[in-house]
Amino acid sequence: MKIDHLGIATKGIDEALKFWENALGLENIHTETVEDQKVRIAMLPIGESRIELLEPTSDDSPISKFLEKRGGGIHHIAVEVNDIEAALEQLRQNGMRLIDEKPRKGAEGCLVAFVHPGSTGGVLLELVQTQ
Ligand code: CO
Repeated sequence: MKIDHLGIATKGIDEALKFWENALGLENIHTETVEDQKVRIAMLPIGESRIELLEPTSDDSPISKFLEKRGGGIHHIAVEVNDIEAALEQLRQNGMRLIDEKPRKGAEGCLVAFVHPGSTGGVLLELVQTQ
């Protein structure tokens, strides 16, 4: 396993890139709108992992709610798994609370599923299976 990315909620990706790209020196290699999650994302590689900047595309986006409550910051940690169905089943068998019972389509054509912070000690965890 590895950390696929850290998801960071922002009010606007362009504004956030002034820090992550211009000032810190990372490079935004991929921007995409993920309709299913009502977010626009930017991916900036850092070592073998990435920073994922998230911007809401509507008022009822999960990121809008997060921004209202916390005003931005680390939103989730994403772990890459080989077999997301097997990972979900293992979590289920261990009595863990899942947000997504079934994998859904994430950025870059990946399959993703979120695990509830109530089962992880307060961290919203995203499982990612790259295609
Ligand atoms: Co993510």
